[in-house]
Amino acid sequence: MQIAASLLSADFARLGEAVAAAERGGADLLHIDAMDGRFVPPITMGPGVLRALRPRTRLPFDVHLMVVEPERQVDAFLDAGAARIAVHVEAAGHLHRLLTHIRARGAAPVVALNPATPPEAVAWALAEADGLLVMSVNPGYAGQAFIPAALDKLRALREMADASGRDITLAVDGGVNEATAGPAVAAGARLLVAASAVFEGEGGIEASLARLRAAASALPSPRISGR
Ligand code: DX5
Ligand code: ZN
Repeated sequence: MQIAASLLSADFARLGEAVAAAERGGADLLHIDAMDGRFVPPITMGPGVLRALRPRTRLPFDVHLMVVEPERQVDAFLDAGAARIAVHVEAAGHLHRLLTHIRARGAAPVVALNPATPPEAVAWALAEADGLLVMSVNPGYAGQAFIPAALDKLRALREMADASGRDITLAVDGGVNEATAGPAVAAGARLLVAASAVFEGEGGIEASLARLRAAASALPSPRISGR
């Protein structure tokens, strides 16, 4: 189980310090939410932010592109040091070509799915994907509540990924916190993306990461039978 700290809830005036604290706290990846004001309403970070942070950390950059026409943006993010790039199946006109391109450039291609997108939408892309990113909120904002139906989608995609015989990292993004991390892992998630639970949690970034990891690793309590 891995944790990607999403910088969306970090203090943008002190991003370098937030990244250092996430690294000290044991985050496995830094999740970068790039929004264009079209695929989702807000505008957030671009490749310049990756370039500025690249020398400051050893953590890989896990880029989540929430943009229309992602094929116009991937190269700039790859040039800036992205290790993984998630493109939305709803936004990519030629998904197969884009995933192949990301892999050819040495990064891991990932497919993201909005909450209302069925798991079958990625069935024919599994052969090209190294990861799937299940949105458990409607993308655009940090701090939203986890949509429970995402658990069913995680279970369905876990089965599809296992049946493919390929090593596909199943990630969940949105509303991941100490209460939802355990159920998400039980449903098959192996990478948890969290913004507010990491950067706005009590006791600071390192303590929040430790609590999230503990919650995700806790075994489900055994069922007590009625007999
Ligand atoms: C939502 C982004 C998420 C967001 C998660 O559009 O893709 O990565 O940062 O924020 P939390 O963890 O606060 O729900
Ligand atoms: Zn994200």
